[in-house]
Amino acid sequence: MIIVKNIEECRAARKKLGRLALVPTMGALHEGHLSLMMLARAHAPKVAASIFVNPTQFGPREDYTKYPRPIEADLEKCRQAEIDLLFLPDADQMYMPGMAEVIVDLPQLSSVLEGKHRPGHFRGVCQVVAKLFNIIQPDVAVFGQKDFQQFRILSAMVEALDFPIEVVPGPTVREPDGLAMSSRNQYLSPTDREKALAISRGLFAAQAEFKKGIRQTNRLITTIQHILLEQHLSIDYIAAVDPITLKHVDAATGPVVLAVAARVGTTRLIDNITLA
Ligand code: PAJ
Repeated sequence: MIIVKNIEECRAARKKLGRLALVPTMGALHEGHLSLMMLARAHAPKVAASIFVNPTQFGPREDYTKYPRPIEADLEKCRQAEIDLLFLPDADQMYMPGMAEVIVDLPQLSSVLEGKHRPGHFRGVCQVVAKLFNIIQPDVAVFGQKDFQQFRILSAMVEALDFPIEVVPGPTVREPDGLAMSSRNQYLSPTDREKALAISRGLFAAQAEFKKGIRQTNRLITTIQHILLEQHLSIDYIAAVDPITLKHVDAATGPVVLAVAARVGTTRLIDNITLA
């Protein structure tokens, strides 16, 4: 595994690799990230990963400074996953002091759901991913459906800005009890973790109703709401949206994503499920 920390080294190493798939991450790697690395391998003979906790996608009251950074464990996981090129920049490398501000925004897609509750979040995500694409120039990029709005926005960015990159979705990896894997799960106390299970339980309960023929999304949303409130979770949103436009859908007659964001104590978690 070649490990590079600066942009010039990264460009030089990338040149030697041929067809390449990239998995961008913020580290604190778990099975979800590793599944994306495996999927990347199926799309290209060489796989690159990046680990960079991107300051521009965190709001002023969010967890940027306390975000987990277990770098030694992450390096070991990348080695195990047989990553060919690992890009590990620091914040000054990615955002040179004095560099002009650039905004990459897709307002129709970023003003709803997560974007509404985390102003500026997707601008930061698009900015850093556009930079990673320009630095690493992958042929394929893999993103998880756990962050389905992020996946949709980055796919749309690639299309709108003509990046010559194929964007591939990776399915959400869950703990055996249903909890979607997340680097933020490690903030949860055992009691909070129990409560957090209501999120996936709610989504699966709604999916079961859908399978029984219920199509009104209001009913599906109410089912989820009851299950979250039983555990006293603080709900940011429960939404039923079209996976392409991210607009609200009343009747689940075509593909619909049910998306939830809720706080358990001080930890904010998101999850979603596609009904089809
Ligand atoms: P991070 O939260 O580290 O996630 C990196 C990638 O792993 C994203 O594509 C995310 O959707 C995916 N992922 C996270 N949990 C997953 C799970 N349980 N199953 C499957 N995939 C999962 O998302 C980011 O970092 C950043 O916003 C980034 C894109 C790197 C830009 O900074």
